[in-house]
Amino acid sequence: MAVIASAPGKVILFGEHAVVYGEPSLAGAIDKRIYVKAEENSDKKIRIISGDYSEIVEFSNLKPEGRFRYVKKAVELVFNKANETLGIDIIVNSQLPPASGLGSSAAVSVATIASLSRLFGIALEKKEIARLGHRVELEVQGAASPTDTLTSTFGGMLFIEPTKKRHINIAFSELPLVIGYTADPRSTAELVKSVRERRERHPEIIDSIIAQIGNITRKARHFLEEKNLESIGELMDINHGLLEALGVSTEKLSRLVYVSRNAGARGAKLTGAGGGGCMIAYTPENEEEVIKAIAKEGCEAFKAPITKEGVRIEKEK
Ligand code: PMV
Repeated sequence: MAVIASAPGKVILFGEHAVVYGEPSLAGAIDKRIYVKAEENSDKKIRIISGDYSEIVEFSNLKPEGRFRYVKKAVELVFNKANETLGIDIIVNSQLPPASGLGSSAAVSVATIASLSRLFGIALEKKEIARLGHRVELEVQGAASPTDTLTSTFGGMLFIEPTKKRHINIAFSELPLVIGYTADPRSTAELVKSVRERRERHPEIIDSIIAQIGNITRKARHFLEEKNLESIGELMDINHGLLEALGVSTEKLSRLVYVSRNAGARGAKLTGAGGGGCMIAYTPENEEEVIKAIAKEGCEAFKAPITKEGVRIEKEK
């Protein structure tokens, strides 16, 4: 028996970093997915394969370490839930660049949980998949907001309020986006730490920036719900300025933001933790011009429409 599940990556449209301090975030699932195939094997071991990399692990040694730490933790949680173990091949195929802020770790965790639980015949509701996915991220990374795992599980656009432990689905708006990928690796944990330190040095200033990012996110939710997209680009621009003030942009990210605006994007900002990774541009027109302008800076650019589809079972046989 084999099951293939897939889960999408995400972009944070508004609210990164401020969400760590209790403000809401607004994220959207993107049309690039990670596919995970789980198949019973006869060796009674866990074999994980992704592209050119593979690893064989014994059940007794399923520590969440190394390249496949998210998959290993997800496998352990599902085994615990099923109260049994099986020899399993797990084959990962990703359309997402890793460590880019596009939510690849959440997507691989969520897709692994979905494929494996189906293989065991356990019916998990999406809420439970998202909860387990968030646990994987927490245990592997130490800290993580539920933004990525919720968005990857439910798909669409979500307004997430971590302090109230709830999320609201925003009725789907067409939101043409271009993603620019700097290919500079960065660590979310380091960037969260640098904002915390800046806040400790200047609490009165940083707290008001965080509060303003919260206001932008709430206003953006309102505009998106009303399908009033006129001001969305401008809110992205303001949000980017405030992320620069928090110290998480880089010269390259801000350059991509500026060349995108000059090429006709309605607005642009870094997305995710910053320090490298990706930026997004809102491009209801001039999509091709923006892609070309980013490519001219030596960076990859691609269209990333928001997708309604969260985690799903692709195939079982
Ligand atoms: O780098 P990403 O996409 O995982 O985004 C991190 C977003 C932060 O707000 C900086 C951290 C978090 O856990 O929400």
